[in-house]
Amino acid sequence: MAYENILVETNGRVGIITLNRPKALNALNAALIGELARALDMFEADAGIGCIVLAGSERAFAAGADIKEMQHLGFPATYKDDFITSWERLSRCRKPVVAAVAGYALGGGCELAMMCDVILAAENARFGQPEIQLGIMPGAGGSQRLARAVGKAKAMEMCLTGRNLSAEEADRYGLVSRVVPLAGLMSEAMKVADTIAGLSLPAVMMTKESVNRAFETTLAEGIRFERRLFQALFATADQKEGMAAFVEKRSPSFRNS
Ligand code: CAA
Repeated sequence: MAYENILVETNGRVGIITLNRPKALNALNAALIGELARALDMFEADAGIGCIVLAGSERAFAAGADIKEMQHLGFPATYKDDFITSWERLSRCRKPVVAAVAGYALGGGCELAMMCDVILAAENARFGQPEIQLGIMPGAGGSQRLARAVGKAKAMEMCLTGRNLSAEEADRYGLVSRVVPLAGLMSEAMKVADTIAGLSLPAVMMTKESVNRAFETTLAEGIRFERRLFQALFATADQKEGMAAFVEKRSPSFRNS
């Protein structure tokens, strides 16, 4: 089935998903979220893909959930359909996702970026949770992920006032991995994704799972979890290859097994 709200392509071992509703600044409607889930399913099932890049346009990564679509929703419908829960598909992606954020990443757009693993921000990026100005609050994990990313006081100010952060502030607060010039955003994102996609996929996936566990459990439990995955990697052919390549002073050739 064709995509109408996103563009989907591959470049080597990298899957690229570009949000593409330019007239609505990539506002996230149900159709787009469904297509995003479908593209993620496809890339996750594809053994030839080792990393995914999620991008928007130069003007907007995404300006939030589609307000025009939500405007007339009532509580029974949001509850019955479990509105927004389907967005979590992105956070359940087991392969790494690099967000390439330019322009507005507001509300659900900021939340989508925070579901990714690496966030590269162009100099013109703006991050914010303006839902309070609409009489609602973040609904795709924003209050939780933002609080963990930037701490309580900064998350409170952003969620309670709707103030946006510049890319520089987002970098200083630890919300993004780093800031790059707008013209170089996609090439930097591809560089990061290519690097990840060239590594051993089992090691990459376990590393992602282990870092994410840090946000869900105690330190002692997290360290035990990490140790088990670390030990499990000694059962892979890629561990033998990676270490042999180091000793033999050559580049490793990983087989993702
Ligand atoms: N939903 C639906 N349409 C949107 C939209 C959104 N979130 N954001 C922008 N658009 C549409 C505008 O309605 C406009 O469409 P028309 O040309 O048909 O009028 C078009 O995109 C361009 O937008 P603007 O004319 O407003 O552009 P601007 O440059 O003047 O302002 C902006 C840009 C500051 C991002 C402004 O569009 C804006 O404030 N957008 C809404 C941001 C927002 O409140 N996001 C949170 C949504 S709620 C949410 O996300 C809940 C959640 O937690 C999941």
